[in-house]
Amino acid sequence: MKELIRTDKLSKYYGKNGSIKAVDKLDLKVYEGETFGLLGPNGAGKTTIIRMLSGIISPSNGTASVNGFDIVKQDIEVKRITGLLAESPGLYDKLSAYEFLEFMGALYEVPENILKQRIDHYLKIFALDGRQDYLLEGFSRGMKQKVLIAAAMVHDPAIIFLDEPTSALDPRAALTVKHLLKELSEDAGKTIFVSSHILPIIEELCDRIGIINEGKLITVGTVEEILTQAEKPTLEEAFIAMTGGVDKKELLAWREQGNGSA
Ligand SMILES: Nc1ncnc2c1ncn2[C@@H]1O[C@H](COP(=O)(O)OP(=O)(O)OP(=O)(O)O)[C@@H](O)[C@H]1O
Ligand SMILES: [Mg+2]
Repeated sequence: MKELIRTDKLSKYYGKNGSIKAVDKLDLKVYEGETFGLLGPNGAGKTTIIRMLSGIISPSNGTASVNGFDIVKQDIEVKRITGLLAESPGLYDKLSAYEFLEFMGALYEVPENILKQRIDHYLKIFALDGRQDYLLEGFSRGMKQKVLIAAAMVHDPAIIFLDEPTSALDPRAALTVKHLLKELSEDAGKTIFVSSHILPIIEELCDRIGIINEGKLITVGTVEEILTQAEKPTLEEAFIAMTGGVDKKELLAWREQGNGSA
């Protein structure tokens, strides 16, 4: 299997003297065609990892390559072969959905006829085809999210980074995204790197999962491997045990006591 993403002690530090270790000496490999899920509590470093790997921010230390391109020295090439759905992306409110996607496609120099087909395709699968000429300022949060997912895909990147892709979506739209990611992975052979708190989505979609906490990678493997390692029956319990420590275990104990006395 070809290594598409490889990080070598990749680190990002913030604050005075780098006291906030947002990402600390990350060693990770992601293979061509796989769907890789990043799980971690708030502030664990997921967004920071995705932003480094898509060439948006530079590491403080260590290196990484994406399809052989160095994320610092070859950031333009990295941006070209990756698509990014950012956590809190900017969006041009005064453009229509169609104009925004056209604009994004033009940035990536997608030929006009191909671009038109792609835009129509995504507008259709997200059921936005009736709204394509309306300004984005009038779109709901979830509708904007759908447009942004389409925008991340408009140059047909080999690798797609999605930071919390379903957080703003209703269950039906979340399911659409799940199916879309499955299709992109299985039919189009894309490599997908997704961060999410929504465990069932990660569990169902991902070939392998990495769990991070406080900037450090705790474990990587298939769901089964992680359950075995954590000696827990569900990914939720494994996740909490591996990232939470005593406080969260107490919370669970309280829940169980509640059930027992009911
Ligand atoms: N630009 C920044 N300046 C200072 N600190 C930052 C910056 N970006 C991130 N951090 C810090 O780095 C750590 C990791 O943040 P990050 O956004 O990567 O976490 P996350 O796993 O994406 O969390 P969430 O699930 O809440 O989105 C946090 O402590 C955060 O405060
Ligand atoms: Mg984040």
